[in-house]
Amino acid sequence: MAEQALPYQSGFGNEFATEAVSGALPAGQNAPQKTAFGLYTEQLSGTPFTAPRVTNRRTWTYRVRPSVTHKPFEEIPSGLIRTGPFHEVPTSPNQLRWNPLPIPEEKTDFVDGLVTIGGGGDPAMQTGVAIHIYAANASMQGRFFYSADGELLMVPQLGALRLHTELGILEVAPGEIAVIPRGIKFRVELKDKAARGYVCENYGLSFRLPDLGPIGANGLANPRDFLAPVAAFEDVDGDFRIIGKFLGRLWSAPIDHSPLDVVAWHGNYAPYKYDLKLFNCINSVSFDHPDPSIYTVLTAPSAVHGTANCDFVIFPPRWMVAEHTFRPPWFHRNMMNEFMGLIFGQYDAKAEGFVPGGASLHNCMSGHGPDAETWERATSADLKPHYLADTLAFMFETQLVVRPTQFALETRILQHEYYECWQGLKNNFRNAIKGK
Ligand SMILES: [Fe+2]
Repeated sequence: MAEQALPYQSGFGNEFATEAVSGALPAGQNAPQKTAFGLYTEQLSGTPFTAPRVTNRRTWTYRVRPSVTHKPFEEIPSGLIRTGPFHEVPTSPNQLRWNPLPIPEEKTDFVDGLVTIGGGGDPAMQTGVAIHIYAANASMQGRFFYSADGELLMVPQLGALRLHTELGILEVAPGEIAVIPRGIKFRVELKDKAARGYVCENYGLSFRLPDLGPIGANGLANPRDFLAPVAAFEDVDGDFRIIGKFLGRLWSAPIDHSPLDVVAWHGNYAPYKYDLKLFNCINSVSFDHPDPSIYTVLTAPSAVHGTANCDFVIFPPRWMVAEHTFRPPWFHRNMMNEFMGLIFGQYDAKAEGFVPGGASLHNCMSGHGPDAETWERATSADLKPHYLADTLAFMFETQLVVRPTQFALETRILQHEYYECWQGLKNNFRNAIKGK
C-alpha cells in the first residue's frame, strides 16, 4: 500500500494550532485549571518573553507528561562533534575543499554520524555557528536528541529523512531543508539505506526570511511554502534515552517514556521544512550578476544590522541571460566566510573537484573564484541564453571565521591539491600588451 503523504500546516512563523486528538487543545486560554484528558501544559520559549512581537517565538504544548520527567543527565562521549569556541588547531587562511564523507560500514545513526567540520563563535555567547556533516545508515532507536546550543538547519544530500519531533513529523529529502529549533527533541528515521547531508547549528538568533527591499512584497523564498508539522504523539513506555547537546558536550538521561508525547500545541516556535525547488530565483536580465545575497533563502541576523550571523544561500537551476558578462561567479575576497556544499549536479564556478556531498571553505579575505578551466570557457563562451539545469549548491555565509576542526584538517577526504585548480590562470596581460 502506498504511504500517505504527511499533513502539514503552511506559512513561515505562523501562529499554528493543531491537535492530534479532538478537544485536546484548550480554547480561549493557554493554561486552564483542568486540561482535556489530564494533559500537562508546558510553554516552550524560543525567545525571551520580552522579545519584540515580530520576533517573539513560543509554543504552548499539551502533553502526556511534562518534559522534566526524566532521570539525571550524565555525560557521554561526543564522538566527532565539536562546539565553539573552536581552538582545537590553528586556522590557516588556506582555501579548503573536501570530498564527501563516506557512508559508515558499522551501524551508525544520525547522532553517531555527526561530524563537525568547523565553526565560529561560542554557544555560551549565543553567537556563531557550527557546521556539521552527517553520514548514517541506521534510524535512531530508543533515543531522542536535542541541541540547547542552537537551532539545526538540515540540508540532506543523500537519502530522505523522517524527522519525528515533539511537535510532529516532517519528511525531508535531498533538495529540501528542515529547521529544528533550539531545544526541540527529535529522532531521525532513515527512509533510505543511507543518509548524508549538512547541518548548520546556529548558536545565534534564529533563521528568518530576509527583507526584500526594492524586490517588493514577493520573491525569493515565499512564506506560504514553508511547512510545519501537525501534532503527532507517541504514548509509549520503554527504556529510552534523551541525548542533550549542552555547551558542546553530549549528555544522556534515562526516560521511561517517549518524550515525543505532545498531543496538541499552538504557537509559532516549531520545526519547519522547505522545498528549494520553490525558491523564486531573481537575477540579472541585463548585464553583470547581482551579489550572491540575491539567492538568500534564510538569514540569521547578528546584533549588527546587515551582518548575518549566518545566511543560507542556494544556487539553484536558473536561466543565465546576462549580455557581455562573465557569467560564472567572479573572483572574490570577502569579509564574510563562505562554506559551500553541493546537493546535486555541478557548480558553475568549478569544472571539477567539487562533487555532491563535498564541501569547500573560503574564509575571511582568502581569494576564491572560478577555476582555470571555467575561466577559459566562460571568457570564450557564446552568450546565448543558457539554462543551468540539474544543479543545486548552497552556502552557509557567516560573520565569524569558520575554524576547521582537527578532523577536518587531518581527514583523508581533505583535498590537499585544491589550490592547483587556480594555478592554470595565466598572465594574459603580458602577451596582450606586447602586441600594442
Ligand atoms: Fe565569495
